[in-house]
Amino acid sequence: MTDTTKSATITINNQQIDLPVHSPTAGPDVVDIGKLYAQGGVFTYDPGFTSTASCQSAITFIDGDKGELLHRGYPIDQLAEKSHYLEVCYLLMYGELPSANALEDFEARVTRHTMVHEQMHNFFRGFRRDAHPMATMVGVVGAMSAFYHDSTDINDPWQREVAAIRLIAKVPTIAAMAYKYSVGQPFVYPRNDLDYASNFLRMCFSVPAEEYEVNPILSRAMDRIFTLHADHEQNASTSTVRLASSSGANPFACVAAGIACLWGPAHGGANQACLEMLREIGTVDRIPEFIARAKDKNDPFRLMSFGHRVYKNFDPRAKVMKQSADEVLGLLGIEDNDTLKVAMELEKIALEDPYFVEKKLYPNVDFYSGIILDAMGFPTSMFTPIFALARTVGWVSQWKEQIADPALKIGRPRQLYTGETFRDYVDVENR
Ligand code: CMC
Repeated sequence: MTDTTKSATITINNQQIDLPVHSPTAGPDVVDIGKLYAQGGVFTYDPGFTSTASCQSAITFIDGDKGELLHRGYPIDQLAEKSHYLEVCYLLMYGELPSANALEDFEARVTRHTMVHEQMHNFFRGFRRDAHPMATMVGVVGAMSAFYHDSTDINDPWQREVAAIRLIAKVPTIAAMAYKYSVGQPFVYPRNDLDYASNFLRMCFSVPAEEYEVNPILSRAMDRIFTLHADHEQNASTSTVRLASSSGANPFACVAAGIACLWGPAHGGANQACLEMLREIGTVDRIPEFIARAKDKNDPFRLMSFGHRVYKNFDPRAKVMKQSADEVLGLLGIEDNDTLKVAMELEKIALEDPYFVEKKLYPNVDFYSGIILDAMGFPTSMFTPIFALARTVGWVSQWKEQIADPALKIGRPRQLYTGETFRDYVDVENR
């Protein structure tokens, strides 16, 4: 941690201040500015946190230049190929790969919590049928604290554990219910004899009128989508969860805040926006028009699912997802519809065009996940809820890590104030 052989010095108004430097187990050194205001009377300014580490964490590591993503040290491509979502959940939450017994026990604990309180069904019915499923999820996940009082005491480690398991187990049920509600079909109860991904597919696509058979290739692809989205260190929604929880708020409220943040098109909402963009482009001959718009500084249009704040070479998740997309499309025999043709041509052009190459704008994970989810039959409005479902374990793991840290402080950023300075109130008749 603090490396006594290293320090950084900053000079402010001719006064030199030595700042400690922390050495992480991987990644760049971190200059500790915690005492800067007390010693030098200045704040630091870093909009978008491009150079600021907001916390210590031992869960996930990303090297954006190398295109590397590690969960507890294990690379994402190995986890996607050899592991499965619930095992990755265990790894993220507890720090090690489980033994066979520990995994069995964990899977049983998650499976036994998949049903939601029956009264929650009524809560759903208060929403308009045409509500976006993310809007419903923000409300219903937040409302979990009104249904599960016995797991909201954050000072009790047992309650924290139960809340974590409940979130991982129930968010798929809630996401599927949000979908069913939006299409006017009855809710489908979870089935404990199915694996996590198959159960979710069944809760989304089964109807009482006929039996639903889960296709193992689709369920494997679903599981991979979950695995590849499970955690991504201190992204916007995770930082939202951490900031919300720093005040001592309960975990259901904090995860609801994370879902709200994820919804935005610069974050999790990009997967929906990407497919809608591909459909808007419509045919391959219109691609140059959209590429020109993406490059035009006066046009706010961006190629959705291209670019990433951290990955500046390639997104390692996208590599695995592309392979999954090929498998699913092959299985379903939809190799050449218009949307797919546009996607493949856009990918090719963007990888060769100097604007995208120089700015290092590569297709990110959601470019391919959207294509898979569309092929599976999910409407675009369900893409971000599925991301939220998968990311719940990341939020929960980061929340648990933060709460267990004895050094936890409420998050309270400073500001660079640019408003009016002191002025006296003016009575209305004199304005
Ligand atoms: N299309 C066109 N130009 C782009 C794009 C894009 N998708 N992304 C970035 N640029 C340009 C941008 O205009 C800027 O140009 P200049 O330097 O000339 O001003 C330059 O590239 C750097 O962009 P930035 O906005 O400063 O980069 P950032 O690190 O703040 O933003 C990003 C990262 C992901 C928000 C951005 O690339 C973007 O808006 N992409 C589209 C939305 C998207 O796909 N988001 C999902 C991210 S992955 C899933 C997740 O983790 O949530």
